[in-house]
Amino acid sequence: MRHDHLITTKQLSRADIEAVLDRAAELDADPSAAADRHAGRLLGLLFFEPSTRTKMSFETAMKRLGGDVVDMGSVESSSVTKGETLADTVRVIEGYTDGIVLRHPKQGAATMASEFVDVPLLNAGDGAGHHPTQTLLDLYTIRETTGLDDLTIGIMGDLKYGRTVHSLAHALTNFDASQHFISPESLNLPREVVYDLHQGQTGARIREHEHIDDILPSLDVLYVTRIQRERFPDENEYQQVAGEYQIDAETLEVADEELTIMHPLPRVDEIAPEIDETDHAAYFEQAHNGVPVRMALLDMLLEGGEIDE
Ligand code: NCD
Repeated sequence: MRHDHLITTKQLSRADIEAVLDRAAELDADPSAAADRHAGRLLGLLFFEPSTRTKMSFETAMKRLGGDVVDMGSVESSSVTKGETLADTVRVIEGYTDGIVLRHPKQGAATMASEFVDVPLLNAGDGAGHHPTQTLLDLYTIRETTGLDDLTIGIMGDLKYGRTVHSLAHALTNFDASQHFISPESLNLPREVVYDLHQGQTGARIREHEHIDDILPSLDVLYVTRIQRERFPDENEYQQVAGEYQIDAETLEVADEELTIMHPLPRVDEIAPEIDETDHAAYFEQAHNGVPVRMALLDMLLEGGEIDE
């Protein structure tokens, strides 16, 4: 199976994921190992939504591979404000670059855009849809801390609009993982995602909870997410759930000593700063892992247009 584009984690088998993580581990151990491999190659960055980590780690990764990036910059300063369609924009950028990274507020935008280009297109987040490259760095972090098999993970917060959650949940069906989803009822995992998870190759082991207390002691990993304020159709609805589901030292009293806490960042108030200095906190390490993982992905996709061989 060849993957010219990376749109969702549903495309990825366990072997695909392990190939990327193994390559990332090599590059993590010796970042200069691939210093000139992609000299002369250009990656196009098209971010129609704010980003700090994803965009900067892609840029860092491409430069560490010897390549460079061309960046559309803000939507306001691009031709999008003149009414240019996404299809036209990606067709033009394809002519300048060897690969495209796209973030867009509309779910499905990456799938649509990928149909117009031949260079690899990587989905860096499509609305409340998917965020597969985040998942790969999440999996890398889990593998480095607790291991990916015999895993009990709690995924908490905005499961409805959280694209990192949707991508992670799908990818974990490739592993021996029990997934516990913790959210207010109004932010439950979308039913189509639950349905899809059950269609996975090995069948997902998933349970949904409204409160964390019962399940927290049995977790190896707690993956906390931000309430995605920008996706709520109504600010009042956001206000009703804002501030719920916060983790602090008191919450963790019943947690396993070895519990790993992750967060794709940015956090608002979901994790109290007092957790940062504890051994539980893995979220900054997780963000750092974005560079070797994206280096590995770019290396494999730009090299041969495939990530599973
Ligand atoms: C996430 C995103 O953009 O979906 N951020 C990221 O890429 N690290 C999570 C979020 O915005 O809450």
